[in-house]
Amino acid sequence: MTADPQAATKTGYDAETVASLTADATAIMARYPDPRSGLLPMLHLVQSVDGYVSRDGILFCAETLGITAAEVSAVATFYTQYKRHPNGTYTVGVCTNTLCAVMGGDAIFDELSDHLGVGHDETTDDGAITLERIECNAACDYAPVVMVNWEFFDNQTPETATALADKLRLGDDVVPTRGAASVCSFKQMSRILAGFPDGRADEGVGAGEPTLAGLKIARERGWTAPSSGQAGEPVEPVETGPVGKPGSSAERPAATPSDTAVGKDKKPGEDAK
Ligand code: FES
Repeated sequence: MTADPQAATKTGYDAETVASLTADATAIMARYPDPRSGLLPMLHLVQSVDGYVSRDGILFCAETLGITAAEVSAVATFYTQYKRHPNGTYTVGVCTNTLCAVMGGDAIFDELSDHLGVGHDETTDDGAITLERIECNAACDYAPVVMVNWEFFDNQTPETATALADKLRLGDDVVPTRGAASVCSFKQMSRILAGFPDGRADEGVGAGEPTLAGLKIARERGWTAPSSGQAGEPVEPVETGPVGKPGSSAERPAATPSDTAVGKDKKPGEDAK
């Protein structure tokens, strides 16, 4: 399906922007059997132009996909990644979920809020930074974590976080803790999230020592995961290495298929009779 440039006539976009958005929207819609499934990347796309999901952006998505503006708004207001007012060049997100909070995330947020003079989802006067409290980003092994446009800055303190914010406001390049690619702007990031890569994915964040520690221990001890088997089939017992601690799995008899599975002709609980 090709996006109809006429569909954008209700928006306030100029002809050049309409042409560019229409070409990108056509590429997005082609990824899906049903074009309206492209709404999420299209919201990122209009965000990459306006810096937020504007009224024009909502109208463009609605007209292009043949759905109502109310339907587009309902989606855009559900996900916090879509901004309904102009965002800063950088979103600085402080994880204040449980582990990061107890490791200092709340203190980092409070310090940044004082330092920048803004609260949650507010933007500094110079338009550089929008500060946010964010939920767990599965980097708890590096708690407390701060994210800049979704790039990880690990093991932060109030001092390192404020220094990071100062660099961003000065326009200095900043590089995530486990990556080599400098952080891009909110608009650039939005275009990547719309599915138009910048070719720097291999420079991005990788796994670090804390993340790989469990895998390393498992390999040293010869642990392997059980095979998942087919539905209704017995699960293979777990191979365990010599752990040597009281009560460890190495001291328990290995599970057998009859311990772990309900056979085809058995009902749950039948073994107990
Ligand atoms: S609690 Fe902060 S990354 Fe998980």
